[in-house]
Amino acid sequence: MNDQQISREQGDVNLSEQRTQFQQQHLDPRSRELVEKDQQLFLHQSLSTPVLHALSHSEGAYIVDMAGKRYLDCHGNGVHAAGFNNDYVCEKVVDALRSKNTFTSRRYTNSNIVGLAEKLIAVTPEGLDRVSFCPGGSEAIELAVSIAKSYTNKWKTISFWDSYHGNGFQSASLGGERLFKKRLGPMVPGALHVDFPNYQNNPWGFTDQRQVDDEILRQMRTLFEKEGDIACVVGEPISATPVMPTRYFWQQVKLLCEEHGALLIFDEIIEGFGRTGKMFACEHYVTPDILVLGKSLGGGLMPFAGVVVNEKYNVLETQSVGHYTHEKNGLCGAAGLAMIEYLEMHQLVENSAKLGEYLMERFKQMQTSYPIVGSVDGIGLHIGLEILSADGSGQRGVEEAERIMYQCFENGLAFKLIESSIITLRPSLVITLEDAKFIADTIEAAIVA
Ligand SMILES: Cc1ncc(COP(=O)(O)O)c(C=O)c1O
Repeated sequence: MNDQQISREQGDVNLSEQRTQFQQQHLDPRSRELVEKDQQLFLHQSLSTPVLHALSHSEGAYIVDMAGKRYLDCHGNGVHAAGFNNDYVCEKVVDALRSKNTFTSRRYTNSNIVGLAEKLIAVTPEGLDRVSFCPGGSEAIELAVSIAKSYTNKWKTISFWDSYHGNGFQSASLGGERLFKKRLGPMVPGALHVDFPNYQNNPWGFTDQRQVDDEILRQMRTLFEKEGDIACVVGEPISATPVMPTRYFWQQVKLLCEEHGALLIFDEIIEGFGRTGKMFACEHYVTPDILVLGKSLGGGLMPFAGVVVNEKYNVLETQSVGHYTHEKNGLCGAAGLAMIEYLEMHQLVENSAKLGEYLMERFKQMQTSYPIVGSVDGIGLHIGLEILSADGSGQRGVEEAERIMYQCFENGLAFKLIESSIITLRPSLVITLEDAKFIADTIEAAIVA
């Protein structure tokens, strides 16, 4: 793969001709000026700078550019479960600021962070009874793996090709993509990988889900038996693409972990907090030993993440692997607690399940009507729509997907591509049926065009 292809695995690339054309035609002068300044000031990276556009603000499910144009944002980097700048969450954060119950050194505590911890333990599945917080998802993944290594006294990990678990040496070692580790030299040793179950597109040509699951379980069993010293298996319950594994798959992985004394770690940094139509994606499958949360945990305002673990993993009294300056930050506590309260008060998890069903039905209809729509998968407001080449070859429709994306953007719908040709849709859980119709109609119009 060349550099552009490697970048496209995670998202649409920021140096494509279509991107430049879009910017020339559609950026208003104030947005253009900001984008150009940003480009001069920030380190360039394949998935951020140079950026696509500039925002004046964001609210609810929408982002707003400098000219006041609104876009329904189906990416939002996953922080917007309760919407951007949610009034209820903002009020609670402002209350925390007014009462000066904000930053707290980690040798003290405060009511906001304790409130969030209590709430998380209450809403996560039974058996997850203790928390630890840190500033971001990558650190939370490191923390989870460190707990597993310390508890098991083993040092290897099994994770999945093509997955993303964050930046930093441990998290990027777990990740299955070159984009995040190329040229960095040796990564953390013992990071082993297997395929993620993909029922539509698997290298063995299997059409039966059980055959796919069993092949991957076989790969995993081989690593457990021949490599040994496996501390944990780390995965997103549903891949980011998304591909939804069967319940059988995760049940068997959990059994393999138990048999070999390893921990199962679920990365729900994206999928937690209602995204998949349940409060946590693991509720579709099995309860992991360690649940990793992030993104929306900061209420869309603060950078915040953490782990929720079973009591038996409370074994670090003489170590300090979660030693973070902001682990007890009261502002983050207030934001996280308010975000969960808001989801509950407005039944947004149920909304995610309901509107997800509506969208899946619309996309399944498009799949039968338009040959360029390949696989459609997902659950709740976590949906992927594969675009195939218009030449009928069944290959990825890289150019086509990009054209659809920029056309939708022009029409007020923002999303990101993954694996170069999959439209990934993860709108805020606050969207209405009207918003969901807008998403489906706008994509359908772009496909037709
Ligand atoms: C599944 C998953 N895990 C981990 C991370 C890393 O989180 P952060 O960017 O907060 O470090 C991300 C971020 O995109 C993610 O999507």
